[in-house]
Amino acid sequence: MSRTVITFGTFDVFHVGHLKVIQRAAELGDRLVVGVSADELNLRKKDREPVFSEAERMAIVAALKPVDEVFLEESLELKRDYILKFAADVLVMGDDWAGRFDEFRDICEVVYLPRTPAISTTALIEKISSAT
Ligand code: CTP
Repeated sequence: MSRTVITFGTFDVFHVGHLKVIQRAAELGDRLVVGVSADELNLRKKDREPVFSEAERMAIVAALKPVDEVFLEESLELKRDYILKFAADVLVMGDDWAGRFDEFRDICEVVYLPRTPAISTTALIEKISSAT
């Protein structure tokens, strides 16, 4: 039987940490679905607008070989609905979220993958904006 994996993220200023989590998530199943968080959601969550719009971020993620389907994550409260809608067998999150999604273990496996060290969108934005 085919296994569907789902993961979520902003994937702004796409970097190798994003690529690695997507590659490792894909290895856990046969089909990878990625929820890309909406601009509005980021504004509320991180208090800044993403550098790239949701349409651009979705286009980048959708073009990656390991990704089968992309959708817009419009609310953090809808994770359970998205897992059910896409019939996901596995939820993958970075370990910065360790333990935070255990409530979904009643409907799917929940796997936390270690983050790639020393890179993040926030750090990249800071590095680029402080470059002279
Ligand atoms: N991720 C990762 N390794 C990194 C950075 C991110 O594995 N070095 C993973 C996160 O754990 C998440 C996904 O990539 O599963 C999307 O993360 P996102 O929040 O979009 O990226 P960050 O670089 O963490 O962004 P920010 O600095 O804005 O929090």
